[in-house]
Amino acid sequence: MRGLKGKTVLITGAAGGIGQALTVRFAEEGCRLGLIDMNAHALEAAAQRARGAGATATTYAIDITDYDAVKSAVDAFAGEAGRIDVLVNNAGYDKFTLFLDTKPDFWEKVIDINLKGAIHLHHAVLPHMVKAKSGKVVNVASDAGRVGSSGESVYSACKAGLVALTKTLAREMARADIKLNAVAPGPTDTALFHGFIGEGEAGQKVHAALEKAIPLRRIAKPEDIVGAIVFLASEDADYITGQVFSVSGGLTMAG
Ligand SMILES: NC(=O)c1ccc[n+]([C@@H]2O[C@H](COP(=O)([O-])OP(=O)(O)OC[C@H]3O[C@@H](n4cnc5c(N)ncnc54)[C@H](O)[C@@H]3O)[C@@H](O)[C@H]2O)c1
Repeated sequence: MRGLKGKTVLITGAAGGIGQALTVRFAEEGCRLGLIDMNAHALEAAAQRARGAGATATTYAIDITDYDAVKSAVDAFAGEAGRIDVLVNNAGYDKFTLFLDTKPDFWEKVIDINLKGAIHLHHAVLPHMVKAKSGKVVNVASDAGRVGSSGESVYSACKAGLVALTKTLAREMARADIKLNAVAPGPTDTALFHGFIGEGEAGQKVHAALEKAIPLRRIAKPEDIVGAIVFLASEDADYITGQVFSVSGGLTMAG
């Protein structure tokens, strides 16, 4: 990918399934990494993998729902790395529950992580990019936010909100030459996905049904998702902003 070598990249949810694949890929592209996750142990393991692939990686074991912690981590990374070229908002959370069985404390948790957490990151990182008059933000949304998904009502609302935030900030930030885009994964083989489909026979049934519904006939691996994100972070995407790319094996198609 063009123009990624030497870039400074901040990734949230770096210890998770898609986050770890992203971390390794950006390391292989020659980037300097800042890695955020609330799971300190898994985050350190992800950083070790990135270092093994030749990258310098700094970890920030914080909860992105805490604005002050986000601001401190972002300012520390900008100070240490000199600038922030790319932000990937990838941290997320969901649990399969039909809407009428959900309660306000669950809605708050889902909104805090998936929507407010991403808002915190934008608010903390964009001033650094505005000062540099350049930057790329890639938000990991979900096809659930585009087409809906039973059992994921509030999560879907958050992801749709993240898409709207991406488009609005893409307009506001264009004058500073900052590009914002969203990638919407379909079902991807990670802890979040397994939590969603459930364990045992019931989980296997959902898995099989999804595979049947996906034109490419398989659930994505985390590595299937990272290419679109890395592309949108690269100079190859310098004229792309405010767009949403589905990476779903064709499960949803929109043009
Ligand atoms: N797996 C899928 O099927 C799928 C589909 C569509 C979209 N997505 C999105 O992809 C992204 C990555 O998900 P994944 O599948 O790799 O899930 P995952 O559960 O493997 O990883 C999510 C990571 O986010 C971290 N995280 C959660 N809450 C946090 C918080 N408050 N502060 C800091 N870190 C926090 C977790 O510790 C975890 O490491 C998410 O935004 C998710 O919504 C996933």
